[in-house]
Amino acid sequence: CGIVGYTGFQDAYKIVINGLRRLEYRGYDSAGIVLDSNNEPFYSAKTKGKVDDLVAISKDLEGKAHVGMGHTRWATHGAPSDRNSHPHLSNNGKIALVHNGIIENYDTIKTMLVEKGFVFHSETDTEVLVNLIQYFMDTDTALDFQTAVRYALNEVYGAYAITVMHDDFPGLLVVARLGSPLAIGLGENEYFIASDASPFVEFTKEAVYLEEGHMATISLENGVEIRNITNNEKITPQIQELKLNLEQIEKGGYEHFMLKEIFEQPKSIHDTLRGRLLVDEGIIKMAGIWDHLERINQAQKITIIACGTSWHAGLIGEYLIEEFARIPVEVEYASEFRYRNPIITEKDIVIAISQSGETADTMAAIKMAKEKGAFIYGICNVVDSSIARVTDAGSYTHAGPEIGVASTKAFTAQLTILSLIALKLGKHNGNLSNQEFMRLISELDAIPKRVEEVLESTHEITKEIAKNFVNAQNFLYLGRGYNFPAALEGALKLKEISYIHAEGYPAAEMKHGPIALIDENMPIVIIAPKQGHYDKIVSNVQEIKARKGKVIAVVNKGDTQVASMADYVIEFPETSECFSPIVASVPLQLLAYYIAVMRGANVDQPRNLAKSVTVE
Ligand code: G6P
Repeated sequence: CGIVGYTGFQDAYKIVINGLRRLEYRGYDSAGIVLDSNNEPFYSAKTKGKVDDLVAISKDLEGKAHVGMGHTRWATHGAPSDRNSHPHLSNNGKIALVHNGIIENYDTIKTMLVEKGFVFHSETDTEVLVNLIQYFMDTDTALDFQTAVRYALNEVYGAYAITVMHDDFPGLLVVARLGSPLAIGLGENEYFIASDASPFVEFTKEAVYLEEGHMATISLENGVEIRNITNNEKITPQIQELKLNLEQIEKGGYEHFMLKEIFEQPKSIHDTLRGRLLVDEGIIKMAGIWDHLERINQAQKITIIACGTSWHAGLIGEYLIEEFARIPVEVEYASEFRYRNPIITEKDIVIAISQSGETADTMAAIKMAKEKGAFIYGICNVVDSSIARVTDAGSYTHAGPEIGVASTKAFTAQLTILSLIALKLGKHNGNLSNQEFMRLISELDAIPKRVEEVLESTHEITKEIAKNFVNAQNFLYLGRGYNFPAALEGALKLKEISYIHAEGYPAAEMKHGPIALIDENMPIVIIAPKQGHYDKIVSNVQEIKARKGKVIAVVNKGDTQVASMADYVIEFPETSECFSPIVASVPLQLLAYYIAVMRGANVDQPRNLAKSVTVE
């Protein structure tokens, strides 16, 4: 979910609505706003649907207040509906609250509150929290608002980022964080609150990121006052300079963020490599690895934990690290890893990969691995995100903000970082000869160029091919070696945004099951670069054609053998096998994008998904 809050001199409605639009990638089941104007009860509006739907019912609130907050939701407790949308108001209508996260013990608290006479209008855990605050204020009328919020927070288990307002204290915002991010923007005579800094970049470059277990009271009179939720200890705010700019978070002439982000990849990969890959000097400079080189190289094993697309990057990381550094690697879904008592010791390295750096499953897995003494290395895109902060060391991918829910440039940046890590470790521990190292780093250095070429050469053709598959019901994606995870990722992209069922498979494994699905209606995307089990793939294509499957071959430029058997051909420049997933993934992103667009789907905000899933 996304949270925005404002107190200052500008029109709070405009700031909140504009901010919610920027945060819509975090969830878009429903949206709501509440404004506080002196001497009036709260103005509020909320609805199932998108921020546009909220605007349609709340336009008259424009210009009414200088204080307010809003929410865009990704449903956890209770289906998306008007009633379950945030903000939630307490029974006396005086306290309003927006919440991101889950209150695990809400049921017990609700039972207690119902016994005291509280009435509930929604199925959410959030409404329980807001009424708990009222309960504390009712019971002890001398209690100030922020203390009541603190008391309530000390009663709940779970994860949250919240913003709370009280009608009797206009201009005062109380915020708190445990497990979900919250940033406070510091302007001149105005303060902003948001789940990330994007809603306020054009107003201020100074922000405070609230730390775990902290709360803050924010008002024009007293500024930002931070305290520890448990013991009320006062904390000095750490002000940070924002690097984000407005251009990075706007569409820049593209129809969708996803398309913009696909086309940004030559630059984003270049940014990932910048300052790290020094070809002339023959070195890879990565402070995170360098500072802990001995420990990493002596690792008994490396376990990569991640979710979704980042997990696919992890699978390719396994191939890279095992091939070049010869350290055993396991890749696990964070959500499985943490619940299965894995064998992890102080001799282990755990690499956590996360675009957002906020994924709750990944965070929980890190905590568990840390408790077992492992050294945690983070690969995150969002600077200063929760995961980036909790890890022992790490590398940022520097792909810039990724807004489209389906991950594209973050994925290729993750592959780039993993390539750097594998090559650096391999060079250092002697598994990679100097000559081979030099050859590979020069090639890696040219990958942004290869990606630029593939964008140019496949943009039109993927659009053409997409036309033939608008009504497809199923898709199969096949690849071998490094391109098996690329096939998984290709399938994930398609299903996420077009809602066509798609499965990725290792090409050779096809004959052990999925081959049963193949008939003249089954489109099969097959990634078949020259370097990488090409002959074996040729046989797989023959097996498919013998069963009349429709083959979309993703092959190297100038390929004749697979191309001659395929129904559709997408060409990409030849690279060493280890880098081919970076280049081959690009036309697969475009194919998924165009099929989804032609089906009329909302590619930037696919149904039921959210960019950053901060609940387990
Ligand atoms: C969500 C997104 C996916 C993403 C996954 C992991 O489910 O919809 O696109 O791959 O989370 O996110 P992370 O930020 O940890 O990489």
